[in-house]
Amino acid sequence: MARSSALRQVDPAPSYVTFARPSIERGEIDDVIETLASGWLTTGPRVQRFEREFAAYVGAREAVAVNSCTAGLHLSLLASGIGGGDEVVTTPLTFCATANTVIHTGARPVFADVDPVTMNLDPAAAAAAVTPRTRAVLPVHFAGRPVDIGAFRALTARHRLVYIEDAAHAVETVHPEGKVGTTADFTCFSFYATKNLTTGEGGMITTASPEKAQWLRTAALHGLSRDAWKRYGPDGPAPYEVVMAGFKYNMMDLQAAIGLRQLARLDEMAARREAIWRAYDEALADLPLVRPAPAEAGTVHARHLYTVLVDPTICGWTRAELQQALHARGIGTSVHFQALHLHAFYAERYGLARGMFPHAEYISDHTLSLPLSAALTGAEFDQVIDALRAIFA
Ligand SMILES: Cc1ncc(COP(=O)(O)O)c(C=O)c1O
Repeated sequence: MARSSALRQVDPAPSYVTFARPSIERGEIDDVIETLASGWLTTGPRVQRFEREFAAYVGAREAVAVNSCTAGLHLSLLASGIGGGDEVVTTPLTFCATANTVIHTGARPVFADVDPVTMNLDPAAAAAAVTPRTRAVLPVHFAGRPVDIGAFRALTARHRLVYIEDAAHAVETVHPEGKVGTTADFTCFSFYATKNLTTGEGGMITTASPEKAQWLRTAALHGLSRDAWKRYGPDGPAPYEVVMAGFKYNMMDLQAAIGLRQLARLDEMAARREAIWRAYDEALADLPLVRPAPAEAGTVHARHLYTVLVDPTICGWTRAELQQALHARGIGTSVHFQALHLHAFYAERYGLARGMFPHAEYISDHTLSLPLSAALTGAEFDQVIDALRAIFA
């Protein structure tokens, strides 16, 4: 049986293997306690530092911290002037937040099919979905694999569209065109509990435009004029004005404290996920599951989700049966994603139906995400492989 001795650590007795346990160590815990003791809980100096350090890590000119990637997407669309009557081309193989934030602006999400191998929005399909009403293209770096950034930049430049990247899975992702976070008008990251870098809930928007960044900061904090959060600080009372009907999308210092520590551990956590990824590739090689395609040359894949395809014609099990059998053996899995146009809400609202995006549908019907996180132990990994071998025996 293929096992990776490199993954052997101090292993607790095997129990239920959760799908994506966050990697939280003493450092994060100490920093949260220190922040609590500091008396400054919400947006303040730690958020400012997290923005600076994240921008430096990515190589972006500006980074604006928010309380979720969803908030980041919503604000990025609004900052682009997108609203009623507009269309935004995106992938159906994503979390609902990608499309919902488009709907929140009053615009319409227009889906285009994905590439069956990379599972990312197909630039040719996206180009075919562009109409005179299209204002933006919004691909997702699915599972941490970069989209064809060059093709999307060319497409958006050709039609004078805004280019927004949903990088919820892609903190570490690099493309030959550049580090994700520097290649779009706006890039939105997620620090949700299951993500490669977590703050529990949280997100970041990167952009090259200081003016847009200032607008995003104001919009994320009620529309209060610049640095309004300082009004409770040591500099004493500071006047502020409401300059727009903004949102309550600001990140707390408590979250930034976790984020700063996670950012410092990012390389170490990425190396762990890379080792697990390789161990999966090796251990699954002789099992009847379709493994993720190798990363493209010159790219860095963020190794966020290890998604296999469970095709009954190949392995004799449906995805639901395999998921249940793994659960019965103490293995948690997840599905990324049920294609959005197959959800009743989008289907009914936009007249969508099965058959429109066949690649996304095939993946939607067969994909299964195996446990993957920097906190996954060697014993847990072996438990996953042992369960799969027993099931397929
Ligand atoms: C592709 C994608 N986009 C957006 C989001 C939303 O992120 P958040 O929970 O930080 O709002 C997620 C969350 O899982 C996601 O997977």
